[in-house]
Amino acid sequence: MTRALDDAALLPLADALAAGDWVSGEALAATAGVSRAALAKRIAQIEAWGLDIEARPGLGYRLTAPLERLDAAAIRVGLSPASAARLAGLDVALRVDSTNQRLIEAASANDPQALFAEAQTAGRGRRGRDWRSPFGANLYLSLAWSFAGWPPKLGTLPLAVGVATARALAASGLSSVQLKWPNDLRIGDAKLGGILIESRSEIGGACRVIIGLGLNVAMTAGQGAHLEQAWTSVHATQLAVGRPTATRNALATAVLDSLLAALAQFEQDGFASFLADWNRLDLAAGRAVRIEGATTLEGHACGIDPDGALIVESADGQRHHVHAGEVSLRLPAAAA
Ligand code: BTN
Repeated sequence: MTRALDDAALLPLADALAAGDWVSGEALAATAGVSRAALAKRIAQIEAWGLDIEARPGLGYRLTAPLERLDAAAIRVGLSPASAARLAGLDVALRVDSTNQRLIEAASANDPQALFAEAQTAGRGRRGRDWRSPFGANLYLSLAWSFAGWPPKLGTLPLAVGVATARALAASGLSSVQLKWPNDLRIGDAKLGGILIESRSEIGGACRVIIGLGLNVAMTAGQGAHLEQAWTSVHATQLAVGRPTATRNALATAVLDSLLAALAQFEQDGFASFLADWNRLDLAAGRAVRIEGATTLEGHACGIDPDGALIVESADGQRHHVHAGEVSLRLPAAAA
C-alpha cells in the first residue's frame, strides 16, 4: 500500500503549475523526482487540496487559474507602522483543519497573532456550516486578540469586523461591497465572504476572541461548484468592470491592517464609531426581509441600533429589535 505524501513534499508540483500554463508530464515527473506512472497519483493528491487541474494528452497539465501563494514576509512588510507594532505573530500555513481552531489552541500570550492558510480541510462557517476552502484560491484568515476585560457589547464586534473588512476592500478598489446582517460580505445578492468569531473567557477576567474571515478571491467555477448559495469573488467583480485583479498578498495585507486598526478602535471606543458605516453599507436597508430564529418575523429592514440589533418594521407598524436569527432578503415584487 502506498502512503499519501505529506503536503510539503507535494508543494513543488503545485508551484511548477502556478503560472497556469501547460506543463508536460515529463517536466512535472522530473520536478517531483518520480516516474510518469507515479506522477498521476501525486497530481490526484494535489487535486484533492482543491486545485482545479486540467489534463490533456500531448499538452500535459495546467491549473485553470494561476496560483499566487501567500508570503508572510510580504504581508507583514505592507502593514502600517501601527499595525506592524501591534501584531505579535503572523504565519501562513499550507493546509490546516481550520485557522480558527489552530489559534484557539495557540498560546494567548502571543496575541495579537494572525494565521492565514492556503487551504482548510475543515473550515467552519456560521451556524455549524462548512466553509469551502480550496487551496490558494481565497483568503482564510484568523486573528486572535485578547482584551484585558470582557468588552461591553461584545456582540457588536462581528459587525465592526464586517465594517473593517469592507473598508479594506473599498480601499483596494472594491467599492460595491455591502454587509448583510450581521456580517456577511456581499456584492449584490452574491456572497463574497463571511466572518466567524469565537470568544473565550480567560483566567483573570480577560476575554480572547478569534476572528475568522473567509474571503472569496480567485475561486474558479469548478472550486465553487455545489455551494449552497450564490457567491462571487474579488477577481470576478474586478474583471466584470475591466479592472486589474488584486493580488492575494495585497488583499491579505489590506484586510489584516484594517482588522488590527478596528480591534484597537473597538477596544478603546466600542461600536459607536462603526455604526454609521455599518448603516451606510447595509444591503437590506429598506428591503423586505424574513428572519428565521426562535420565531419567524417578516417586515422591512430599517438598519441597526447602537447594540447591533437589526431593526425590522412589521406590517402593523411595530418596530422589532432582532438580536439573533438568519435573514433572508425577499425579492422586490415584480413591477405591474
Ligand atoms: C460564514 O459562515 O459566513 C463565516 C465563514 C468564516 C470562514 C473563515 S475562513 C477562516 C476562519 N477559519 C474557519 O474555520 N472559519 C473562518
